[in-house]
Amino acid sequence: MRGAAAPRHFLDLHAFTGAELRALLDEAHRRKAARAGLPKGARDPDAPLAGRVLAMIFQKNSTRTRVSFDVGMRQLGGETIVLNAGDTQLGRGESIEDTARVLSRMVDAVMIRANDHGDVEAFAAASDAPVINGLTDLSHPCQILADLMTIEERLGPIAGKTVAWVGDGNNVCASFVHAAGLLGYAMRIATPPAYAPRTQDVQAARAAGASIEVSQDAARAVAGADVVVTDCWVSMGDTDKDARMAAFPPYQVTAALMATAAPHAVFLHCLPAHRGEEMTDEVIDGPQSAVFDEAENRIHAQKAVLLWCLRGA
Ligand code: CP
Ligand code: NVA
Repeated sequence: MRGAAAPRHFLDLHAFTGAELRALLDEAHRRKAARAGLPKGARDPDAPLAGRVLAMIFQKNSTRTRVSFDVGMRQLGGETIVLNAGDTQLGRGESIEDTARVLSRMVDAVMIRANDHGDVEAFAAASDAPVINGLTDLSHPCQILADLMTIEERLGPIAGKTVAWVGDGNNVCASFVHAAGLLGYAMRIATPPAYAPRTQDVQAARAAGASIEVSQDAARAVAGADVVVTDCWVSMGDTDKDARMAAFPPYQVTAALMATAAPHAVFLHCLPAHRGEEMTDEVIDGPQSAVFDEAENRIHAQKAVLLWCLRGA
């Protein structure tokens, strides 16, 4: 029997209102500040998710997402179970929907990292428990909440800022695009022609009020930008590595390119990084790089997501 209230899924940022995304970011900032100085494994004093359990299903590799959800859930007072998809009966052909029906009777929420975005949507449609998108081929919404939080720590409110995305118009880029109109920041995206962001994502963001410029010109995208972001040239699941390695070198973020951004500009990368490919060591290790704050903020941002899903905070 399906539960009476519809579960609160966290699947993509464009499904939210600007006010809801603002509230998630505010909660993330607030909880981070409130536990300053506590050991990493210590519970937040209110332990709002005591008695709750999160299952995580991974069809792809993960370091940050796995550990940040695990530690974040513990800090909220809850517990976690990690499932490698191939070790479960999914690996022997049990359907996504039956897996969702079973797990949502056993746990309070499920995070999934999936090869195919449609599998996350199918899981959510069959689940009585909230489902969180932990990265798919099409998007990575948890990452972008952490990125926006990191930008705000360095530069103040995200509204009115210009984010330059350089490289592959991939899943991470898509989630940046999804939130732009809702939170009022502009994007200038530079990619090789074959690796531009999906047209429907860009058009939807523009319809939501965002200024999104898409070009093949990295210099144009970065000039005067507040934030410069890149990602790996070959994502998990990409099969055209040779073509990518030929197309992307003009999009490497170098110190010279970074110097054309605003003087206060911040460099972000969701990690894992491929040093010497999408950016030089000088950039990722330089004073404008916030990549390790960004990684840590995955914990704080996801705690806000978990609370939204499970408590309606
Ligand atoms: N940025 C990110 O999602 O990292 P992992 O792949 O290590 O989870
Ligand atoms: N675009 C990358 C992000 C990894 C966190 C990938 O999908 O592999």
